[in-house]
Amino acid sequence: MNDAHRSKIILVTGASSGIGKRTALALAAQGHVIIMHGRNPRKTREARDWVVERTGNRNVHARVADLSLMSEVARFADDIAASFDHLDVLVNNAGGQFGSVRETTAEGHEKTFAINTLAPFLLTNLLLPLLERSPSARIVTVASESYRQGGRPILDDIELERSYSMPRAYGLSKLYVWWLMRQFDARLKADGVRNVTVNTVEPGSAVTALQRESIRKSLWMLPLLILWLPFIRTAAHGARTSVLMATDPSVEGVSGEFWGNGRRKRISAKWLSEEGERRIWDYCAHACAPYLGEASTLAGRGTGETGLWPES
Ligand SMILES: NC(=O)c1ccc[n+]([C@@H]2O[C@H](COP(=O)([O-])OP(=O)(O)OC[C@H]3O[C@@H](n4cnc5c(N)ncnc54)[C@H](OP(=O)(O)O)[C@@H]3O)[C@@H](O)[C@H]2O)c1
Repeated sequence: MNDAHRSKIILVTGASSGIGKRTALALAAQGHVIIMHGRNPRKTREARDWVVERTGNRNVHARVADLSLMSEVARFADDIAASFDHLDVLVNNAGGQFGSVRETTAEGHEKTFAINTLAPFLLTNLLLPLLERSPSARIVTVASESYRQGGRPILDDIELERSYSMPRAYGLSKLYVWWLMRQFDARLKADGVRNVTVNTVEPGSAVTALQRESIRKSLWMLPLLILWLPFIRTAAHGARTSVLMATDPSVEGVSGEFWGNGRRKRISAKWLSEEGERRIWDYCAHACAPYLGEASTLAGRGTGETGLWPES
């Protein structure tokens, strides 16, 4: 069967609201098997029922995990592996933005970094064996144009213990997750994996619950948001590039790119750093070491070291 017409198994994280919920809706409408992830059981079930009702697709499943905890990310990956024999698309969409005071998770990680950077790193690594079983798999990670608003990467204080601010934490978490996805692409290519592509997308500004917590905790943001209102689109619009990169035949084989507004984005060299990518990868591999299996993940594959950088 032509791959474009094959029914795919697609996992969308953070599908209980906003852009993720709209991404799941659009992909369910295409007739695929959808796994909608959320952190709140009732909200996730209601989102799943909403998608089933609107699309008539009954092959939509709800799954719950708190992705701020790596122990939960690992349990979630096990749960998916126990329920599905392969995965065709992973959409790393879940994300968070917090207040002006640095918060840490019960595992000791800065919250924005844990959800926006560490969780997609670990989940992608743990689900790779399932993705590699697909004839043609895609990893799509939702970053943000805010990668340019975090300022200079601080590689000796990655979790911002000494230099936290909300815009810096959010912007850098999105820059780092994009760097990690570039590494996944490079490492898969170096390993000779041809059936898995990896791309990063930015949804533009969309009306969602994302800013809820940061505004509640940093009221100074409210006037900025009001000024920004004319540029804000719907969550359905924000989902478009994720949907395109998840299933559209026109981007089959495209990998290692950053997309936004339905197009490949040109990235200034200023935001790219091989050394930075390696340092972030190694930091995440170290932080997630208790949950990373052995040869089944890219973190320890290839040279057997975490610091693999493919020869160019
Ligand atoms: N909206 C924008 O303008 C914009 C711009 C650029 C990038 N983005 C990115 O787009 C993605 C989707 O955000 P959105 O705007 O749609 O925001 P949203 O409506 O707040 O949706 C975020 C999703 O992630 C889930 N989530 C948050 N923290 C979680 C955790 N600890 N564990 C598990 N799930 C968690 C949320 O669950 P709950 O439903 O329980 O809250 C929700 O399903 C994010 O990665 C965001 O950074 C958004």
